[in-house]
Amino acid sequence: MNLLITGGLGFIGSNFIRYILNKYPDYRIINLDIVSYCANFENLRDIKNSPRYSFVKGDIGDKKIVEQLVSRQPDAIINFAAFSHVDRSIIDPDEFLRTNILGVHVLLEAARQCKISRFIHIGTDEEYGSIESGSFKESDILNPSSPYSSSKAAASLLALSYFKTYDLPVIITRSSNNFGQFQYPEKLISLFITNLLENKKAPVYGDGLQVRDWIFVLDNCAAIDYILHHGRIGEVYNIAAANEKTNLEITRLILNYLNKDESSIEFVKDRPGHDRRYSLDCSKLRNLGWQPKYDFSEAMAKTVQWYKNNSQWWQPLKSGKYLEYYRKQYGTGAAPLEQF
Ligand code: DAU
Repeated sequence: MNLLITGGLGFIGSNFIRYILNKYPDYRIINLDIVSYCANFENLRDIKNSPRYSFVKGDIGDKKIVEQLVSRQPDAIINFAAFSHVDRSIIDPDEFLRTNILGVHVLLEAARQCKISRFIHIGTDEEYGSIESGSFKESDILNPSSPYSSSKAAASLLALSYFKTYDLPVIITRSSNNFGQFQYPEKLISLFITNLLENKKAPVYGDGLQVRDWIFVLDNCAAIDYILHHGRIGEVYNIAAANEKTNLEITRLILNYLNKDESSIEFVKDRPGHDRRYSLDCSKLRNLGWQPKYDFSEAMAKTVQWYKNNSQWWQPLKSGKYLEYYRKQYGTGAAPLEQF
């Protein structure tokens, strides 16, 4: 298969590219990435010289580049490209709407013109919004809370409309919170591990009793791979691994791995519009034949160890010297957002 992957220098996209190239010796990948603040060439350092991998710097909203790549008729497009951090979307929603909605529209249009035979769009459980008890099914109404999740909900509805209206062979995945190697240190698990390794505090929002359902990134990659090969066109698939935990439980687990005590926790102001609980019913994907394989505690231990062993990866991202470092390494003008 020839795959066009967008956003493949980010956390989930880069893990997915490595997963696919290792698993299928004859698959080829083109990675289109704008190289925004959370993209990182280091994420794919080990495969960047593979003859089956090529990189194109560009925006999914750039019609010209997108049309050029899509007209090469990849067997599938898998869209990971998105601005993904809720807190940033609260501060500045603009680029979330531009990339996550309008960019996806450019991709969908090109896919329609070129009659692409599979278009997988990576969505999120946040599109459903918060749920007090029970779990969301794929057929439930979308009720997002943040500019980020609204942009993702808009994109998945737009993609589904391309299936209904134009028969574009779209499949949507909606996964729960991912964790693992190469996650930009702004998300709960990657931020807390790296803060604690730097002897800083772990800033817990509000009472810390919000619930997220955690999936190891390689399980999500395996699920997307399974859906790519076995998923039914026009369908949405929830992806999770049944690891619901409060943020405080996660924090205590990390403290424990790093031999720290609760004095390293700092309770801070809550996130505006903070969703209390996410929960997905994944029976549809289980019935299709996929199930997660990683044990949560082992995957967490592995993740903490990875950040311990790879401070050269995350330290420049946190030091505010990223831009300087980045330009030196890659000579491009891609700029990170200001740290906040
Ligand atoms: O659910 C899937 C989504 O998970 C993805 O679609 C998003 O791209 C991804 O960012 C993530 O969204 P969350 O808002 O759930 O993830 P985040 O890691 O930002 O926060 C997880 C929980 O931890 C949430 O309840 C907020 C809380 N939190 C987060 C940070 C960064 C804190 O208490 N302190 C923090 O410093």
